Amino acid sequence: MTITSEILHKLKEIVGESYVFTDEETRNHYGHDETEDYVFPPGVVVKPGTAQEVSAIMKLANEHYTAVVPIGGRTGLSGGALCILKGIGLSTERLNKIIEIDEKNGQVITEPGVITQVLRDAVAEKGLFYPVDPSSMGSCFIGGNIAENAGGARAVKYGVTKDYVLNLEVVLPNGEIIWTGANTLKNSTGYNLTQLMVGSEGTLGVVTKAVLKLWPKNSHNVLMLVPFFKAEQACEAVSAIFRAGIVPSALEFMERDAIDWAVRFIEGVSVEVKPEHQAHLLIEVDGNYPDVLMLEAEKIMTVVEQFEIDEVLFADTDDQKNALWKMRRGVAEAVKSNSVFKEEDTVVPRYELPVLLKGIKTIGAKYGFKSVCYGHAGDGNLHVNIIKGDMTDENWKTEVPKGIREIFDLTLSLKGTLSGEHGIGYVQKNYMDMAFSKSHLEIMEQIKYIFDPNNIMNPGKILPERN
Ligand code: LAC
Ligand code: ZN
Repeated sequence: MTITSEILHKLKEIVGESYVFTDEETRNHYGHDETEDYVFPPGVVVKPGTAQEVSAIMKLANEHYTAVVPIGGRTGLSGGALCILKGIGLSTERLNKIIEIDEKNGQVITEPGVITQVLRDAVAEKGLFYPVDPSSMGSCFIGGNIAENAGGARAVKYGVTKDYVLNLEVVLPNGEIIWTGANTLKNSTGYNLTQLMVGSEGTLGVVTKAVLKLWPKNSHNVLMLVPFFKAEQACEAVSAIFRAGIVPSALEFMERDAIDWAVRFIEGVSVEVKPEHQAHLLIEVDGNYPDVLMLEAEKIMTVVEQFEIDEVLFADTDDQKNALWKMRRGVAEAVKSNSVFKEEDTVVPRYELPVLLKGIKTIGAKYGFKSVCYGHAGDGNLHVNIIKGDMTDENWKTEVPKGIREIFDLTLSLKGTLSGEHGIGYVQKNYMDMAFSKSHLEIMEQIKYIFDPNNIMNPGKILPERN
């Protein structure tokens, strides 16, 4: 899709000359997220500063059948922000105002280009808590979190992005601006377009404002790291903790290599990983009453002690807690620094985790790949990093996709699904036929068509290619 000089000229009129970029360096910069090693630069990068400017861009693109891809913090893991047809890369980075923190109602109204951590810190100053904490929260945008329905470690107790989105201002592909819902905690008024937008990966419109729910901030937490001698037992312990009546605020699983690589990669983190440790669970409980948290931690200890574990590390200080979380959040990057990889985002009902982990290893052995697994075990959400290592390019291209299909077969047979929190985007779309029937996919295609008859809004994402 070429950007004609006419389109370029009009884009400059809309946002101002200094916010339109056609140089190669900028286009390459905006042409990748964190998905494997893909680079798909847009034909032009624009940086609108208001919803009205976004609207004018969409009207222009719609008239000219030009693709528009909303681009946030570029931390996505399914290629949602890749400009696969070039077109217009619409960066939301100037839409970066927190408009209002409404303490009376426990809500925040924000623009999409606000970094998640910035929003969390701003509301925390008022004693409020926005719990969604993707590992990339230091650089990802709220808009991207909404687009992908991002999760994170605290989702196990507090839910994912969808559970916090009350209302959205959206610019539709034809340039019209709508509010999808109301600023209320309950809403049974018509079809739920708010939740349809969440997780739609920028394929239905551009979010220009979001009203998000907040919780009061908890004052205390307890964090422990439990080394297991058998990885499958670590997975078994996950559902046992809930069955003992505890809902942790985080329950993360890391296979041996995940933690080992992260410790080596990240400075200032010293966790002893003995050769015989096969996996770790990082477990947190939070609340306002330390005595209650200690009782919950003791209860968790009685559960994990039923398995073969080594000495449990309790993080005593904030520094120690931060170091453990830094290590956990650094796993993806540590793995990436080691080798080319593909990351799957499987999710199953949590009791099935041991079966899933075992199956993934068996499938890897069959197709000749190594995997490093970690993730939000309390949600049954296992990130499977398939490592290229010294695999030949040929096998990487032919054998790995077969293995991924088998992993998804297994996931679906366990009543799970393809992605828990990273989205389908560009890299998983051709597996969608495994999860959905033809008529189900047709309904999704029709929804897309109603919003975007000219197929300009982030085309080539989510829905499988037609043969
Ligand atoms: C994580 C990201 C990769 O869990 O989802 O670290
Ligand atoms: Zn994750």
